[in-house]
Order: sequence, then structure tokens, then C-alpha cells
Amino acid sequence: MTLLSVEELSVTFTGRDGGRRGPGTDAVCGVSFTVAEGEVAGLVGESGCGKSVTSLALMGLLPRRGVRVGGRAVFRHSGPDPVDLLSLPPAALRDLRGRQLAMIFQDPLSSLNPVVPIGVQVTEVLTRHRGLRGRAARAEAAHLLERGGIPDPTRRLKEYPHQLSGGMRQRALIAMAVACAPRLLIADEPTTALDVTIQAQILELLRELVDDQGTALLMITHDLGVVAGICDSVHVLYAGKVVEAAGRRALFAAPAHPYAHGLLGSVPRLDAPRGERLHPVRGSINDRLSWPDGCAFAPRCDRYTLECLDATPELTALPGATGGHLVRCVHPVGNEGSAAADTPTEREASA
Ligand SMILES: Nc1ncnc2c1ncn2[C@@H]1O[C@H](COP(=O)(O)OP(=O)(O)OP(=O)(O)O)[C@@H](O)[C@H]1O
Ligand SMILES: [Mg+2]
Repeated sequence: MTLLSVEELSVTFTGRDGGRRGPGTDAVCGVSFTVAEGEVAGLVGESGCGKSVTSLALMGLLPRRGVRVGGRAVFRHSGPDPVDLLSLPPAALRDLRGRQLAMIFQDPLSSLNPVVPIGVQVTEVLTRHRGLRGRAARAEAAHLLERGGIPDPTRRLKEYPHQLSGGMRQRALIAMAVACAPRLLIADEPTTALDVTIQAQILELLRELVDDQGTALLMITHDLGVVAGICDSVHVLYAGKVVEAAGRRALFAAPAHPYAHGLLGSVPRLDAPRGERLHPVRGSINDRLSWPDGCAFAPRCDRYTLECLDATPELTALPGATGGHLVRCVHPVGNEGSAAADTPTEREASA
């Protein structure tokens, strides 16, 4: 069952930062995707492509002034009627946060209260959303921290956020989000600050939550290892638009958009011949066209032709592919030649 259906989400910053005198900054331009019960949907793309803005829009946490939000985000909570997260009044949205809807933020330090011990913050969540109190709440809090890979959790519960390392703070936040067992969890780069062993532990914890509770997880990341490790479906974002959408296996086997193809081609392969160079995507996200003028990726693309500037490419089914593999490109990379074979397999990316 689909729990979240995002339809044509767009976010434009019109305030001073986004260019008050100009037309504004289009951070997200018509993004659509769904997340089903028990599914991990990945949102992938380089810095500045609109990942965090998408998640903040869904949580209703964008600033109220200087921002224009369009589209719909239909969320099937446990109540009778689905709601549109984008048009819900703040009070109703607040009621949904916790058991229905939770988020792990990209920046762990600013998400914790600096003057309250970690233990109080975790038990507060357990009391509010699961009705646990006193010793039972403290024991569950310690158990959660331990599952998040925090050693000596009973001592840590008495400490303040500044006494924990960045990675520990992130793990404490993940523990708090998992504690609520929400229907929909949005995780914005939850493992970026962590080393790979802890990262694997966290991914396992999140996978358990998804498998056992049927949580729908929207996993936001720029790390293809994380995608390979946990995602069922993947949406690749570029300059605020989805440029490719596919199941994880289909994407790793044959990425069709030149940007997705380049992203996968820039990951080192264990079996690559000695001395072989990586193929990074050249340029930066600043070298882009605006979508109404054609394909935003054209200035960085090796397959670019004048046709790419005719109109904004549509997100359409990849010719010959099965199972909802979509691509927004006039010249998608096919299975021809060795291009697709140059990309790493899922196992190599997660290594
Ligand atoms: N409050 C704001 N005012 C103006 N522009 C903003 C604001 N927040 C974000 N943006 C712009 O929106 C775009 C998308 O930003 P976003 O934070 O979603 O990127 P991201 O994909 O999460 O990147 P990263 O991987 O670095 O976290 C960027 O161009 C950014 O400058
Ligand atoms: Mg971000």
C-alpha cells in the first residue's frame, strides 16, 4: 500500500536569499515519487540538488516567509482519510509528527537540545509516543542507544549533547526516531557522519524497522553505498528534478541518464585494472541550464546535442525496460557498448 504519494512538488525561494529582485530560486521543480509500506525509497543526488528542501517541505518545516511550495504530498496516516502534507495546518501536522511521521535531520547538533541530557530527551520521546515512564522508559532508552551502536549507554544517557561525538549524537537521534516506529520516516543523510561499521549497523537498524513495522522509509543520500545497502527503489535528482527512477537492481545494472551513469562510473571498482582512471561527472551543479530552456544537465553531458535544448525532457519509460524504469533524457545510455558495463555492481558500491 502506498503511504506517501508526492505529486509535482515544487519549492521556490523568493526571499532575499533566493533573489528578491529576480524570479527566485527553484530548488525543487515538479518532483513526483511514491513510498509504499515496508519500502525504502532512495532520493539521490549531488549537493544542492534539492534533497533536504524536499524533505523539509514534506515535514512542513520550511520557513513560512519567502518560500512558495506547490504540488501535493498525500500521506495515508492511520486515521480514516489521507491528508495532503503540503496544505495541512501547522497544528494538524504537529499531531502527525512522532508515531505517524518522523524525520532524522542532516545536522544532528542542531536537532538536540544542548541543555538537556540525552537520556531525558530519549525518554521524553518514549513517554510521549509510547506511554513508557520511569524505569521502563530509561531501560528502553538504554536499549535503543545500544542498538544504535553507542557503547556504555547507561552512562551516556546522563550526558549532554556536547559530551557526545558527532557520530554518537547522530546515532542518538536515529534511536529516537526508531523508538517511535513511525509509519513514514524521512532520513536526510543519516549516516554521513558515521564510519562504515557504524553505518552498516544503522542501516541494519533501519531495515529492521522497515521489515518489522512496515515503516515506509524515504532515504536521502548522496552515497551510492547506502543506496546499494538499503534502498528498494531509487530516484535520482538533478537540479530539482527527478532524472531517473528505477528499482535498485535495474539502476545499478544499467543506469540510463548520463548523470546517473556518471555517478555510478565515479565509484572505484575493486576489479578495475590497475591504473584505470575513474570517470567523474565533469563540472559542478552550478554549470546548469534552467529546466525551461532544455535539459539542465546538458552543459556537463557527453551525449549532448542541440535536441537537448528543444524543451524540458519528459520523464518517460526507458525503451525496452520493464518494471517502471523511467528516465528524463533525449539520448539515454542504452545497454550498447561497454558504457553500462563500466559501472560498479551493487556489491562493489556497498563494499
Ligand atoms: N532557506 C533557503 N533560502 C534560499 N535558498 C535555499 C534555502 N535552502 C536551500 N536553498 C537552495 O535550495 C537548493 C537545494 O538545497 P538543498 O539543501 O535541498 O540541497 P541538498 O540536495 O540537500 O544538498 P546537500 O547534499 O549539500 O545537503 C540549493 O540551491 C540551496 O542553495
Ligand atoms: Mg541536504
